[in-house]
Amino acid sequence: MSRNTEVATTRKTFAQVLVCVGCCCGRTDKGHPEVPVDWLKQEWRRRLLPKKVHLTISGCLGPCDATNVVLVMMGDRPVWLGGLEHREHYAALADWASACDQAGGLVPLPASLARFRMERFHERQYYENDFDEDSCCSNEDAA
Ligand code: FES
Repeated sequence: MSRNTEVATTRKTFAQVLVCVGCCCGRTDKGHPEVPVDWLKQEWRRRLLPKKVHLTISGCLGPCDATNVVLVMMGDRPVWLGGLEHREHYAALADWASACDQAGGLVPLPASLARFRMERFHERQYYENDFDEDSCCSNEDAA
């Protein structure tokens, strides 16, 4: 897999957790379970996790019908979770992030979250390269 070496960030983390609180997720007024956003942010800060596993509180991620959706990005691998109902489910994510911190790298997600995993796309697509190196659409090439 080729890597872009022209763009870099110093804000590298082991992973990123996107917690949805969009038009449906966490909307108790629509009958969905609460997403403990303030508690989760405090917990992330208390455990000094932001520079290890980035927490993003997100608008709608798309699959609203799964309700209370979380996307965990681990390197190039996305893991979609849906149907989280209780604070303990979000606590499991914080525990996992702490475990990554203590291990100095990624560790598997806790088994307690496995039942919430879902497939987000019609079928999994795997490419040898993420970008089509044979395409000729680049404005830079035309300059
Ligand atoms: S509001 Fe969470 S996926 Fe749409």
